Amino acid sequence: MSILIIEAFYGGSHKQLVDLLQEEIEDCVLYTLPAKKWHWRARTSALYFSQNVPVSDNYRILFASSVLNLTELTALRPDLGKLKKVLYFHENQLVYPVQKCQERDFQYGYNQILSCLVADVVVFNSAFNMESFLTSIGKFMKLIPDHRPKNLESIIRPKCQVLYFPIKFPDVSRFMPKHKMTHFKKTFGLKGNEDDTPLTGLPFQQKIRVMESLMKNSHLNLESGLCEVPSGPHTTQQDSLSNPLPKLEELSKTSLSKNSDPCQEDKQHVTFNLCNILSATDEHLRPLHIVWPHRWEHDKDPESFFRSLLRLQEAGLSFHVSVLGETFTEVPGIFSEAKKALGSSVLHWGYLPSKDDYFQALCMADVVISTAKHEFFGVAMLEAVYCGCYPLCPKDLVYPEIFPAEYLYSTPEQLFKRLQNFCKRPDIIRKHLYKGEMARFSWAALRGKFRSLLTTEPREDL
Ligand SMILES: *[C@@H]1O[C@H](CO)[C@@H](O)[C@H](O)[C@H]1NC(C)=O
Repeated sequence: MSILIIEAFYGGSHKQLVDLLQEEIEDCVLYTLPAKKWHWRARTSALYFSQNVPVSDNYRILFASSVLNLTELTALRPDLGKLKKVLYFHENQLVYPVQKCQERDFQYGYNQILSCLVADVVVFNSAFNMESFLTSIGKFMKLIPDHRPKNLESIIRPKCQVLYFPIKFPDVSRFMPKHKMTHFKKTFGLKGNEDDTPLTGLPFQQKIRVMESLMKNSHLNLESGLCEVPSGPHTTQQDSLSNPLPKLEELSKTSLSKNSDPCQEDKQHVTFNLCNILSATDEHLRPLHIVWPHRWEHDKDPESFFRSLLRLQEAGLSFHVSVLGETFTEVPGIFSEAKKALGSSVLHWGYLPSKDDYFQALCMADVVISTAKHEFFGVAMLEAVYCGCYPLCPKDLVYPEIFPAEYLYSTPEQLFKRLQNFCKRPDIIRKHLYKGEMARFSWAALRGKFRSLLTTEPREDL
């Protein structure tokens, strides 16, 4: 018996999910189309797959993301129509913001509703995604001039469930800068020399549990961010350290390394004094490092992100910024303008194809920001938080479901104010430990549910 996985838009989080399923669950066969030209995939991929997925008696389950026109595929391939059909929504078209509303846009939402009627199980990556979809169906159908279909929400709802997008958090301990690693050392009484990564010896799942429990116990953190030695994997990357380190920090680095590890408990008073002295000269701290790891598209609202940064710049505050994330065919013009305007504050600019480089960049950052006008889950934000970044996201969309209230802002002004404070005292943000819960998004926690979704037999009555 095998699981047939069809992904019509094989890129970004769509790719991440099906790759994970194939890796972790036995007997998956995967058919994909590259993540290009979304509208064409939505319109034509069903016909393509109907010709390219071989006929087989082995399939029991069909798993597809909602880009696929499932109605069409099952009509063209009745053999696939008989399988237990699981439709996974990474995003839904009923609340997707379109740049300019075109008549044809009705069709995509409509197709998704019809695909739900055809599917046996409909899965959403967040409650926000599910509710926004289900509760929009009625209003959406009102666009039909007459003879409207009825009760669709109540027909579809019983098939629906939320299964968070599962994240397989990689081992990033080797990328963690000193001040983030110190949290582990402190809590577990693990001591060592400069380069020690205290969790290295532990099996990976155990490290995850360690991190997760640490994230819940923010009171355990007594460190000052100033204990950080700005060493780093980054120095090997050409485009990083474009700003030379401030002199005083160099100084503290030297004095810190003489004491081998001033963050150790027995030397805490030394650290404390040093921190006091240094905090009097805030402008000499390593600037706040802000990361924005999102697709370079309008719905992530890069405009308001860059507007906030430029305001910081105008206010004379120093910061570093890394703008990561995938780019597609049309890059909004704001990116090249912003890059010019931000000048030497830029550490990374553009997509980092290597996962290692990507996680390394996240580990070196202090704050991760979302300005999205549109987000159904947001893997990148959670990955950044996992790497020790402080999240700031809109108090809207999926965010209140994922992040505690203290990480949410309501207006651009609030975002600016908080960044302004962080820029003035990056040391404070560096010693913050995340208060939310990460475990529920990990593959470890979700594995069982995905497994039973994909391995239980189709209903008898089909
Ligand atoms: C896909 O599915 C729907 C059912 O919603 C169908 O009416 C539509 O024409 C299909 N094809 C395309 C190209 O949208």
